[in-house]
Amino acid sequence: MDTAVTTANKIDLAALKYKTVNLVVFGHGNVGDAFLDQLFEKKESLLQRKSLEIHVVAIANSTRILFNEKGTTASWRSDKLTHGVPYSIDSILAFVETHQLENLIAVDNTADAAFTKQYEKLIANGFHIVSSNKHKNTAPWKEYSALRKLLNGHEKEYLYETNVGAGLPLIDTIKLLHQSGENITRIRGVFSGSLSYIFNEFSERNEKFSAILNNAIVNGFTEPDPREDLCGMDVARKLLILARELDLEVELDDVEVQNLIPKAVRALDKTTFLKNLTHLDTSFFIKKKNLKKGNVLRYVADLHGDLSKVDGGKLTVSLQETPKSSMLGQLKGSDSIFEIYTESYGSSPIVIQGAGAGASVTARGVFGDVLRISHKL
Ligand SMILES: NC(=O)c1ccc[n+]([C@@H]2O[C@H](COP(=O)([O-])OP(=O)(O)OC[C@H]3O[C@@H](n4cnc5c(N)ncnc54)[C@H](OP(=O)(O)O)[C@@H]3O)[C@@H](O)[C@H]2O)c1
Repeated sequence: MDTAVTTANKIDLAALKYKTVNLVVFGHGNVGDAFLDQLFEKKESLLQRKSLEIHVVAIANSTRILFNEKGTTASWRSDKLTHGVPYSIDSILAFVETHQLENLIAVDNTADAAFTKQYEKLIANGFHIVSSNKHKNTAPWKEYSALRKLLNGHEKEYLYETNVGAGLPLIDTIKLLHQSGENITRIRGVFSGSLSYIFNEFSERNEKFSAILNNAIVNGFTEPDPREDLCGMDVARKLLILARELDLEVELDDVEVQNLIPKAVRALDKTTFLKNLTHLDTSFFIKKKNLKKGNVLRYVADLHGDLSKVDGGKLTVSLQETPKSSMLGQLKGSDSIFEIYTESYGSSPIVIQGAGAGASVTARGVFGDVLRISHKL
């Protein structure tokens, strides 16, 4: 017998039993790093229990990439230092083609709006997309809807459960309710972990707003410049994403947002602003003083109006007073809460509540999206 021929024709029976999915991971900051750790920790059990082999064939930050067509290992950090190379999206496409890699998922754990412009190219070249990055879903409606058409045309999936509520099963729940014909009439809640913490604490404690805000900064609940939280735009983006899940044709400009930063400190540079947090005290003191007895302050996102019409929705984000005994009023710590009102459930909403931020829970949500797509491949 010719041994060379026998070896070449030998079928790897073990390999036939499992499915291989190839991941290209963009971004290894807080979320990306935690995601890769969780993935490498679960890799073996996914193979054994689900016959699913997940290969991370490339890991990139904004400047360099580590390629390994057989899958990187848990030692990717040191490997990337020694073997990382500059790259472009075209070099990634050439790499997957050269190695004939299939079942491709691009995972976007960047916070970069510009990077989301690459999704179309990735989809057209065989990639599904999983993203914790909100920018694509808050792009102008034309770009948003064109992407959906492209996905349909190429039979590709785009999952982004972590765009709102981090690891909470929110977007999937809303999608299922809506697609199954359940009439969602309102979505309301506290969407921001940092603003949840700030107003939960400020309403409870006899402390100045600046002291509470400073605690939030020190505990890492806010962005490095807390004005990014206080301006309300992050909450507005999340509300827009949920509205679009209900097929409402809305833009970011359609969201009425109450900016919580006093005009006098909006234009300050970050360092000066951080040194002058006490400038926020008077206006918030007055708001608290004017509260009705038994009420507390919450920064609330509200999607209401006639949600059965593509242009019937009203999107508002504002600081409101609410009874302490209400679900929103009972919120604690940095939890988020989402109340989903539907026709069938009447005045008792479906409530999803829990940690709505944090690298670890977000990474877990990203991992969940990767598994959802992998199971369908
Ligand atoms: N943290 C949370 O609680 C949370 C919750 C929900 C969603 N998210 C979202 O998760 C995403 C990641 O957040 P994070 O806190 O992990 O951010 P981060 O720590 O700032 O990390 C961002 C990573 O993306 C990389 N990057 C930037 N531009 C890139 C590009 N064009 N191509 C490839 N890589 C690029 C950065 O690399 P360089 O170092 O080279 O710049 C870095 O590795 C964000 O979109 C955020 O909004 C976060």
